[in-house]
Amino acid sequence: MKQPKRIAVTGAAGQIAYSLVFRIAAGEMLGNDQPVILQLLDIPESVTALQGVVMELEDCAYPLLQHVSVTADPNIGFKDCDIALLIGARPRSPGMERNDLLAANGEIFKIQGRALNDHANPNVKVLVVGNPANTNALIAMHNAPDLKPSQFTAMTRLDHNRALTTLAQRTGHMVSDVSQVCVWGNHSSTQYPDISNALVDGIDATTLIPENWITDSFIPTIQQRGAAIMAARGKSSAASAGFAAMDHIHDWIKGSNEWVSMVVPSDGSYGVPEGLMFSFPVKVKHGEYEIIKNLELGEFSQRMLDETTAELLQEREAIKDLLTD
Ligand code: NAD
Ligand code: LMR
Repeated sequence: MKQPKRIAVTGAAGQIAYSLVFRIAAGEMLGNDQPVILQLLDIPESVTALQGVVMELEDCAYPLLQHVSVTADPNIGFKDCDIALLIGARPRSPGMERNDLLAANGEIFKIQGRALNDHANPNVKVLVVGNPANTNALIAMHNAPDLKPSQFTAMTRLDHNRALTTLAQRTGHMVSDVSQVCVWGNHSSTQYPDISNALVDGIDATTLIPENWITDSFIPTIQQRGAAIMAARGKSSAASAGFAAMDHIHDWIKGSNEWVSMVVPSDGSYGVPEGLMFSFPVKVKHGEYEIIKNLELGEFSQRMLDETTAELLQEREAIKDLLTD
C-alpha cells in the first residue's frame, strides 16, 4: 500500500469543492491505488457545514480515504500537505469582471501563501482556482519565499477544456481527436484561446474552419464562457471547474503527452515578463511541467498576448502591497 497523499482543499464548504472532494476520495485524481487524506479548510462560519461534508464523505465508505480533517486555520489546514487546492474565495456576480474580486480576495492568498511556506510539505504542489486566479497565485507565491516559484500554478484548464469541446463540435469530431490547443495569459476575458497549432484527427484545424469563425465566434465564446454560465445558472461554474482542477493536478503529477494549459511563473518565454503568472502551453513529465518553446506567433497572436500581459501587469500593480511583508 502506498503512503497516503495529504490534499488540502480551501473553500471546502463551497460549490466547487463539493463537486471535487468526493471524486478525489474515489481515486479519480491520483489513481485508484493512491490513499488520500483530505484536509478541508474554510472560514469559521462554514465549519458546521463542513462537518456535513465530512459525514457524507464517511458515508461513501471510500477504500482510499484514510482521514478527513476540518479547520478554519490555514496553519493547520496546510500542515504537511502534498497538494494544495486553493479554491476558497468570493466568486464574481453577474456584470463583474474577475479582477473586480482582487480587493476582496487578494488578502486571503497572502495569508495562505505564508501558511503554505511555513507548514506544507516543502515539495507541495499548489493550484490556485479562486479568482482572479493568476494574480492570487502571484500573491501566494510571493508570500512563500522558501518554496520554489515553480510549485505555484493557477487554473486555465477549464478554458482549455472549453476550447477542446468548442473546436471538436465545430469540426464534427470527438474531443479525443483534438490536440495542440492552448490558452495564453490571464484567466479573464483577455485570455487568448489559440488554435493556430491545433490538430483535428491529425489535420491542421485552421484548414477545417473559416478564419472569421476563430475571431468572431471561437475566441469570444471561450473568453466569455464563465459569464455565459453565470447568466444561465445564476451561479458561476462549479462541476466543470472541479473537473478541470482534477485534470490539472492529475496531469501535473502523472504527466501528459498532450499539450495542456497551465498558469505558471513566466521564465521570459514569448516576451512575457519573468515571474508573471501566465498561462502557457506546457507538457508535463515526471511531475515537472515545461513551457512549450519556439512556437511561431503571428502578428494577431502577438497582439493577443500583449493585451493579456498588459492586464496582468495592471493587476500586479494594483496588489503590489500584498507581494511583500
Ligand atoms: P463558493 O462561494 O461556492 O465557495 C467559496 C468558499 O470559499 C466558501 O465556502 C467560503 O466560505 C470559502 N472561503 C472564503 N474565504 C475563505 C478563506 N479565507 N479561507 C478558506 N475558505 C474561504 O464559490 P465557488 O463557486 O466554489 O468558487 C470559488 C472560487 O473559484 C471563486 O473565486 C470563483 O470565481 C473561482 N472559480 C475559478 C475558476 C477557474 O477556472 N480558475 C472556475 C470557477 C470558479
Ligand atoms: C469560470 O471561468 O467559469 C470561472 O472563472 C467563474 C467566472 O467568474 O467566470
